[in-house]
Amino acid sequence: MGRKFVVGGNWKMNGDKNQINEIVNNLKKGPLDPNVEVVIGVPAIYLAYVKSIVPDTIGVAAQNCWKVPKGAFTGEISPAMIKDVGADWVILGHSERRTIFGEKDDLVAQKVAHAIESGLKVIACIGETLDEREAGKTEEVVFRQTKALLPAIGSNWDKVVLAYECVWAIGTGKSATPQQVQDVHASLRNWLSTNVSADVAAKVRIQYGGSVTGATAKELAACPDTDGFIVGAASLKPEFVDIVNATQ
Ligand code: G3P
Repeated sequence: MGRKFVVGGNWKMNGDKNQINEIVNNLKKGPLDPNVEVVIGVPAIYLAYVKSIVPDTIGVAAQNCWKVPKGAFTGEISPAMIKDVGADWVILGHSERRTIFGEKDDLVAQKVAHAIESGLKVIACIGETLDEREAGKTEEVVFRQTKALLPAIGSNWDKVVLAYECVWAIGTGKSATPQQVQDVHASLRNWLSTNVSADVAAKVRIQYGGSVTGATAKELAACPDTDGFIVGAASLKPEFVDIVNATQ
């Protein structure tokens, strides 16, 4: 289908300059598959530092941003600030933002809209909790979360990567099975074809996130509707290189 594989590393609230140097040196050593797009999600305080040491071939993402250019929003950062330090991606709607910090679909959509209009590319996260999966609501949740993003994205789907993260697989060491991932990704792509367009459905890249490791990445990457990963814990480790290279 010609979708470029894209692997995101979400460092979350981890790292200090020593560990960041180690991670970046590991990425520099690689070797990284040149046909795979790599984006690392960095704590905001280290965005400028990481941009100063990482090869230009690696994208740098903030892990969140606010929904307006500037103002009295203590503690927040804007897409303009993210771009000002040279980063060109932002991860939005992560399940931890939704469950811990109470971000609802409409706020995520407002952030996505402002990030795109500010010139950032967006990794937009969606995914169901264990309760929702066990209640058979996985598709209902994923479709609802994606539908909320449609007005925010508009015709800018080339600026967006969707990240399907099974909340119940995040940080648990228990990944979804390749079949579970393929089922949701294929269903989401079909929903996009019906609700947006066949062209967007064919071209949009859908990452899987949730306990991806060097040992599981190859099998997960073989799913026809998986176009990459968003990786937490393993993105802090040397095995992240193996995950990037999972399609080799
Ligand atoms: O954003 C990716 C993250 O939520 C997945 O975390 O540690 O399960 O790979 P992890």
